[in-house]
Amino acid sequence: MLFIFNFLFSPLPTPALICLLTFGTAIFLWLINRPQPVPPLIDLNNQSEGIEGGARRGAFQKSNDLILYYFSDAKTAYEIFQRGLAVSDNGPCLGYRKPNQPYKWLSYKQVSDRAEYLGSCLLHKGYKPSPDQFVGIFAQNRPEWVISELACYTYSMVTVPLYDTLGSDAIIYIINKANIPVVICDTPQKATMLIENVEKSLTPGLKTIILMDPFDDDLKQRGQKCGIEMLSLSDAENLGKENFKKPVPPNPENLSIICFTSGTTGDPKGAMITHQNVVSNTAGFLKLLEPTFHPTSEDVTISYLPLAHMFERIVQAVLFSCGGRVGFFQGDIRLLPDDMKTLKPTVFPTVPRLLNRIYDKVQNEAKTPLKKFLLNLAIDTKFNEVKNGIVRRDSLWDKLFFSKIQDNLGGRICLMITGAAPISAPVLTFFRAALGCPVFEAYGQTECTAGCTITSPGDWTAGHVGTPVACNFVKLEDVADMNYFSVNNEGEICIKGNNVFQGYLKDPEKTQEALDKDGWLHTGDIGRWLPNGTLKIIDRKKNIFKLAQGEYIAPEKIENIYIRSRPVSQVFVHGESLQSSLVGVVVPDPDVLPAFAAKIGVKGSFEELCQNQNVKKAIFEDLQKVGKEGGLKSFEQVKNIFIYPEQFSIENGLLTPTLKAKRVELSKFFQTQIKSLYESIQE
Ligand SMILES: *[C@@H]1O[C@H](CO)[C@@H](O)[C@H](O)[C@H]1NC(C)=O
Ligand SMILES: *[C@@H]1O[C@H](CO)[C@@H](O)[C@H](O)[C@H]1NC(C)=O
Ligand SMILES: *[C@@H]1O[C@H](CO)[C@@H](O)[C@H](O)[C@H]1NC(C)=O
Repeated sequence: MLFIFNFLFSPLPTPALICLLTFGTAIFLWLINRPQPVPPLIDLNNQSEGIEGGARRGAFQKSNDLILYYFSDAKTAYEIFQRGLAVSDNGPCLGYRKPNQPYKWLSYKQVSDRAEYLGSCLLHKGYKPSPDQFVGIFAQNRPEWVISELACYTYSMVTVPLYDTLGSDAIIYIINKANIPVVICDTPQKATMLIENVEKSLTPGLKTIILMDPFDDDLKQRGQKCGIEMLSLSDAENLGKENFKKPVPPNPENLSIICFTSGTTGDPKGAMITHQNVVSNTAGFLKLLEPTFHPTSEDVTISYLPLAHMFERIVQAVLFSCGGRVGFFQGDIRLLPDDMKTLKPTVFPTVPRLLNRIYDKVQNEAKTPLKKFLLNLAIDTKFNEVKNGIVRRDSLWDKLFFSKIQDNLGGRICLMITGAAPISAPVLTFFRAALGCPVFEAYGQTECTAGCTITSPGDWTAGHVGTPVACNFVKLEDVADMNYFSVNNEGEICIKGNNVFQGYLKDPEKTQEALDKDGWLHTGDIGRWLPNGTLKIIDRKKNIFKLAQGEYIAPEKIENIYIRSRPVSQVFVHGESLQSSLVGVVVPDPDVLPAFAAKIGVKGSFEELCQNQNVKKAIFEDLQKVGKEGGLKSFEQVKNIFIYPEQFSIENGLLTPTLKAKRVELSKFFQTQIKSLYESIQE
């Protein structure tokens, strides 16, 4: 998904205007408006506390009792929604819009009724009101997604989200693995794809497709021929209304959702998430927000991050449990700015790649040195306030610099959470200064529902992911072969608590790798406890890491493909979580390189060939070709390389005694070259 944010016009007024305003009214305004700082609730130098067994809990937590729920009348995802209905007094719930029109709203009762009808229809068709009944949802974010999900919960059924970026093989795999007999999907295209799979006998178990968008009779008949019943969503709801069944609500311990995640290799794994997992993680966030933010039925969030991922789902659960509203984007990320200006959300969940784009645009628009200077002065001054507990958007700096950015996001955001991938310090700091609202960074993974740590209110420093949320403990475990030891406050991040998943669906082996016998989830990330009790992510076990856009990379897999390139003898693929692309170091094969270079008309000694730009270019092109043939996705291909004439060896410390690449050493050894590779990509 490509995020294009072309909506930020220059936030900078003319220098003359700045001078005028700065030296005149500024001091006066400041004197009469001087805001009072809000002191943090915990000691920021002591943010987490050690408990027995070397684990830690958040300092705001007064005992070892982990939170299960925030509201005693909302212990399942079903009850969360019913609570929203009650506390909002049947207020607006789900919003949607057509191009250039205002938002229209479905009320809580409308959504709840439609979910009951749809669920009744599923029972009428013979599906069981039970947590071993799985229902696929294959759609972009839209109100019907939430209605379908709630239909499942109302009758104790389990939602299994399907999404495009998984790829068609993965969708076939999931439908079979989870025995999904019924899929609720949005477009005829998706329905056609599902029908084709049945025609080819790839998913024989699929029996029913319920379609949100209109479709023609041909498609219906085509489905019938291979034994699939096709229903429109409205027909399904009518049928359910005529054959109404009383709700069969789930228990907290029952499964709510199977969230399939794609790894770097192999089949997707279905994380089994219970209602309690969802509710406790939601409670953890509500607990954290307590000092700064109390969601009410006046609060609105914008839904554009994939609903198939748990991050977005927890954000919605937070809103629903307080009777808040969810407005959906139109489905086109390019129209998101327009949707935000119309919706005016108060809660903005986001991901670094989107923030990076806005940040780059603002920085690029400050073209002259004076504008750059003033922009940085504005950020520094504003951030200094933030650090001292003054979070506002009515300062002079806001009027001069930041109000345009705020307005482009709707102008009412009072809570922003970034997650899914690491964010760089300058970008995070910029948004904390510019938006004038609390900006939190959360860290987690599907296996702990969504988040396991989050930055504390009042700690607006960057470079760490905060402290454990109230529903889980965090500990670091030794990883001896990477030289990380818990006595040094370093090791693999392990999570235990109410939000930890139940294992992978029908996959005891992978489950055992992720969950140890004491119930600790092994995340595969390496962390370090900082002296003030916050957690910093510093590495990845097994050499799998995430790029800035959130894609997982297994560099060894990529190297094993690149090594097939004829002129290449050794190759080291490097990536960083703050970069969105990979770079590589290539050691050419001295036996092959001369002939390879001769073909493009370059002659010379091995060292000369290694320095020749045309040779480098030819090797680079060969790598791309080999990579493509080897099935690498475009984000898995290196975007620039450095040619190094000397073999990596045990002697020069770049290989292990078993001849494996010493990745940390290689990154250190080539750090200057890597830096310039990244710089030249950006140019
Ligand atoms: C940190 O806080 C805990 C209680 O939350 C307290 O027991 C401990 O003494 C504090 N440590 C320091 C260095 O202040
Ligand atoms: C649902 O939860 C109840 C209560 O914990 C339990 O008895 C039942 O077995 C669960 N059903 C399934 C299919 O897991
Ligand atoms: C916590 O410690 C880290 C590393 O020493 C530092 O960067 C950060 O600013 C500290 N946070 C606070 C609130 O002092």
